[in-house]
Amino acid sequence: MRLDKFLCSCGLGTRTEVKKIIKSKRVKVDDVIIDKSEFKVDENSNVFLDNKPLTYNQYTYIMLNKPAGCLSATKDNHKQTVIDLLENKYKNIGLFPVGRLDKDTVGLVLLTNDGDFAHNTLSPKKHVSKTYIAHISGNLPPDAKQIFNKGVTLKDFTCKSAELIIKEVHQNYTVVQVTIVEGKYHQIKRMFLSLGCKVEYLKRISFGDITLDLNLKEGEYRLLNEKELSFVKTVR
Ligand code: URA
Repeated sequence: MRLDKFLCSCGLGTRTEVKKIIKSKRVKVDDVIIDKSEFKVDENSNVFLDNKPLTYNQYTYIMLNKPAGCLSATKDNHKQTVIDLLENKYKNIGLFPVGRLDKDTVGLVLLTNDGDFAHNTLSPKKHVSKTYIAHISGNLPPDAKQIFNKGVTLKDFTCKSAELIIKEVHQNYTVVQVTIVEGKYHQIKRMFLSLGCKVEYLKRISFGDITLDLNLKEGEYRLLNEKELSFVKTVR
């Protein structure tokens, strides 16, 4: 691959930005300063920036705290998408959201350009759990937990067993935590609707072993850390 591609994979900037870095003679391959972006390297080459070694990253994995109103898509002519929230250096490396949250749902979205990881985590066979906090209006039936546990029956399918934890009961709404191992269209909303309740607010807080970082405000994101990447490896 070209040297500028290698540097982009390290998160050092857009193609234009890394080309400037290369021009400024700060990059060495082995012991030689290389100032040509088209210089050919491979993933095992010894590349240094300011004498510090760099590691090639074939794929990028990001956790994002999606705000309401933002689409889990890569492109839209009218509405903001999760990709629009990223810095330029992450905009042209083929990132896409792993699965979808509804427009009004907030919280954890994983973004990657690793198609195998996305395919495997979304596969029903892998049973990757997703946990949500929901604010529910209407009266939850007393046996709601058991109904979720047995598997809620919807019009077109029966859901797998889900865990329901009641966290807070307020006058007009109840705060619950729900864990499902599927990701059908509007699944959480439809599960509560089948009990005569309405989801007023929905936030995803975890995806498999990856939990939304509490330091991320809505609209913010960060790269996955080593521990989170080990989950990626188990699913890939
Ligand atoms: N279930 C829903 O109903 N909506 C989401 O966005 C995610 C799960």
